[in-house]
Amino acid sequence: MKKLEVLYSEADLDKRIREIAVEINEYIGEDEAIIVANLKGAIPFYADLFRCLTGKVKMDFIETQSYIDNKSSGHVKIARDLSEDVKGKKIVIVEDILDTGLTFEHILKHLKHFHGAKEVKICVLLNKEANRKVVMKADWVGFDIPDHYVLGYGLDDNQYYRNLPYIGYWTE
Ligand code: IMP
Repeated sequence: MKKLEVLYSEADLDKRIREIAVEINEYIGEDEAIIVANLKGAIPFYADLFRCLTGKVKMDFIETQSYIDNKSSGHVKIARDLSEDVKGKKIVIVEDILDTGLTFEHILKHLKHFHGAKEVKICVLLNKEANRKVVMKADWVGFDIPDHYVLGYGLDDNQYYRNLPYIGYWTE
């Protein structure tokens, strides 16, 4: 029978998110920054991280779609766009996981070409290097993980399990 193994507990996540927030606060300094969540999976991470930010920060959201039945379709589309004017501002995109890198490749192109964004930083909770299809590096990474399909804390398995307060993976 398959069993859900905990990879990162609530306490692990809380500790690491506070550490990342210190670094992002240093980066933002006195400037204004737009902190963008990539819906939907980033939401729990984003909410916890955002509460640890201390500077002049605004919220915004973008939604991308690329996964069909837990497999990357290789084609990324913007399903919901930003609402803030991001031109000339510091932007931090917050994402649950960096996997193939195709989502970020698309988001970065879109923000630069369509929104005139100059400085875009990437903050991911999880980095799964094994499946990378393009050169893509995050500026802040919570945890580097092996090639497991993970779920919980925003990450889904066919849209379920996003509500788990920890990150886990299935074992046989
Ligand atoms: P990328 O475009 O392949 O880098 O994938 C980014 C998106 O793929 C994430 O926002 C997730 O929605 C999804 N994803 C990739 N790996 C996993 C996983 O292990 N669990 C759940 N979702 C995943």
